[in-house]
Amino acid sequence: MKVLVYGSGAREHALALKIKQSPLLEKLYLCKPNDGFAELGEVLEADDFAGLAEIALEKQVDLLVVGPEDPLVKGIADEFKKAGIPVIAPTKDWAMLEGSKSFAKNFMQRNNIPTAGYEIITDAKDIYNVLEKFTVPVVLKADGLAAGKGVYIANTRIDAERTLYEYLEGKFSEASSKVVVEEFLEGDELSLIALWDGNTLLPFIPARDYKKLEEGNKGPNTGGMGSYCPVSLELKEYEELEKYVKQLETALKNEKADFVGVVYSGLIMTKEGLKVLEYNMRFGDPETQPLLMHLNSDLLDIFRLAVNKELHKAELKWKSGQTFCVVAAADGYPENPKKGGEIKNVDEIVKNHGVTVFYAGVKKQDGKLAANGGRVLSVCQSGPLAQKCIYDALAELDFCDKIYRKDIGEVSLSKEVCAKDEGCCGNCGF
Ligand code: AMP
Ligand code: GLY
Repeated sequence: MKVLVYGSGAREHALALKIKQSPLLEKLYLCKPNDGFAELGEVLEADDFAGLAEIALEKQVDLLVVGPEDPLVKGIADEFKKAGIPVIAPTKDWAMLEGSKSFAKNFMQRNNIPTAGYEIITDAKDIYNVLEKFTVPVVLKADGLAAGKGVYIANTRIDAERTLYEYLEGKFSEASSKVVVEEFLEGDELSLIALWDGNTLLPFIPARDYKKLEEGNKGPNTGGMGSYCPVSLELKEYEELEKYVKQLETALKNEKADFVGVVYSGLIMTKEGLKVLEYNMRFGDPETQPLLMHLNSDLLDIFRLAVNKELHKAELKWKSGQTFCVVAAADGYPENPKKGGEIKNVDEIVKNHGVTVFYAGVKKQDGKLAANGGRVLSVCQSGPLAQKCIYDALAELDFCDKIYRKDIGEVSLSKEVCAKDEGCCGNCGF
């Protein structure tokens, strides 16, 4: 198969690498890759999606895989469908499950999918009446895409009033002209990524990401500072998750969701049971990095079954144990990350510690790799000694602006995991 992967982050690097490992792959094309993984394929450039679809037709591309959300809501899948090229991406109408929080809430309500109680507000004159229906903390969500910054948890009524006013007055332009006001939920969060072929929903193992910048889940929200999979669940939680997957599959069937792509459910395990916080219509970043490393099956074969509407025949095989991912960002992230810091020794840390590195905000300058954005790279590893290997690798990473969380994973890192104090124990199996 000739495959085109669209997107520039560590998630797309992981997708490209996994697809590259498939015996079904004849040729890999990339659109907008960063300089850290551009050499995995031939880079295609176009002015718009129609232009890209035309080039893809010329190159006889058999499949488009899209990473980020922006092109989805702007209709990349629709253009490729028009050109007759199969896609792993929802059409514009179904991308709305991510592109509009109110669309997603209405979908959940129609299909009895458990979620936080909510109200939708568009007019500042209704602020008082709407907030009267909630206690604090209360959650405010800009309806449209706001680069991951549109969710705000207000701890006081005054804060909620002020923020809601700012949102409706255009804090996120059109994206916050409508706001979902939502009940605050408490519990552990899970990310459930699933493939959908129009008939069958195929769930991946549950993953967890760490959205806060600082250890102990403190500080501002980020795109994600780390992740791991699978998340250990108690039997009751596992049963709830299975029930939810069936419910979502039925909902998508009932609503005739005729796309092939990913449905990512942001879930929370509350005292009253599992509830949905959000939908994304794409692979999560950074969840995809450990998920694809943990997957033993041929991802391209699974995609092939999906576009043939044969996902019911697919079986996902996973490694044992867990896989972890820690993100190294540039100092100042998320507000004002430092750019230009050189990243000197990635090959060495990979060799010394057996880790896999996926690049995100990087650029080549005079042949040298430098930071070019907030999240710079993801360091991943599987197995019982994975955390130790990752953190040894990160300590050795020669990138002066690096910041990273040291508490990614269920079990906090302990010296006992590794017999040696320095470097990797060498027993990781990589
Ligand atoms: P979202 O983009 O809707 O997933 O929101 C981003 C993050 O905000 C979630 O991962 C949660 O940590 C938090 N969040 C969203 N909705 C709620 C809620 N109703 N109650 C508590 N936290 C929430
Ligand atoms: N990790 C959350 C997301 O991809 O939106």
